[in-house]
Amino acid sequence: MLDARSGPPLTALITGAAAGIGAAFARALAREGYRLVLVDRNEELLRASAGSLGVECELVVADLTVEADVARVEEWCGRVDLLVNNAGFGHRREFLETPVAEEVAMCRLQTEVVLRLTMAALPGMAGRGRGSVVNTASVLGFFPSSTYSATKSWVVNFSLAAARSVRPSNVDVMALCPGFTRTDFHDSARMDMSGIPKRLWLDADFLVAKALRDLRKGKALSVPGWQYKVIVACGRAVPLGLLQRVLTWTGKGSLAAREG
Ligand SMILES: NC(=O)c1ccc[n+]([C@@H]2O[C@H](COP(=O)([O-])OP(=O)(O)OC[C@H]3O[C@@H](n4cnc5c(N)ncnc54)[C@H](OP(=O)(O)O)[C@@H]3O)[C@@H](O)[C@H]2O)c1
Repeated sequence: MLDARSGPPLTALITGAAAGIGAAFARALAREGYRLVLVDRNEELLRASAGSLGVECELVVADLTVEADVARVEEWCGRVDLLVNNAGFGHRREFLETPVAEEVAMCRLQTEVVLRLTMAALPGMAGRGRGSVVNTASVLGFFPSSTYSATKSWVVNFSLAAARSVRPSNVDVMALCPGFTRTDFHDSARMDMSGIPKRLWLDADFLVAKALRDLRKGKALSVPGWQYKVIVACGRAVPLGLLQRVLTWTGKGSLAAREG
């Protein structure tokens, strides 16, 4: 990862920057001296979030499930040194009760848009011989529990493959896998999180600090928090058939997306 405190000014573009983990990235990168391009569909929140940073930001109001808006953001991506593909959402409905349009929008935002913005950014970065992409996935990407988890599994696999391809050009791609992180994510999806033990919750600023530290170390996969390192290691070690049975017993095998 490039250091914005020395050398020429660097630009970072963050999607879903008005709230939660995206806003935490904006705070951390503003402190590091990055010029910021903040993308979100919520204009009012985006302005409020940018206003609290104390640095000048370019604001791009865009709904990344809308083609014309994605194309606008793609244009920006060719010019940035750091891209954080972070916009995402969950829902709490059972699989067969979820309108297919909502599942398609989720797949679009959390796979197609990640692909398109990454591919819009990488050629410029590779040409300049520098740059980084962070794609926000989830710990759930290691567990077959929902359409949501399937999109995040795609983000992990895509990012690891892209990381290998661009490493010779001195460009980094990293999948960030948060566990439960205190943001508006669960309230927006009207999920009841009251049963989640306190020790499983991460703070968004802590998560982002760990992610940026991992990016600096050249890691292609970042799983902040020791508890989630253990959970992900278990998810990878347990045979798929057994995992499928455990998820069914615990009621997490129904394709309902409860977590982030
Ligand atoms: N929080 C967790 O526990 C957790 C865990 C694992 C992974 N994650 C992942 O982390 C990322 C950030 O989540 P968060 O927790 O920070 O959630 P958040 O607080 O809800 O913030 C997400 C931001 O993205 C925006 N957004 C959603 N859909 C968009 C679209 N179509 N176009 C443009 N902007 C859009 C949201 O706007 P609206 O408010 O208008 O929807 C919101 O401002 C997501 O990819 C999520 O899947 C979160």
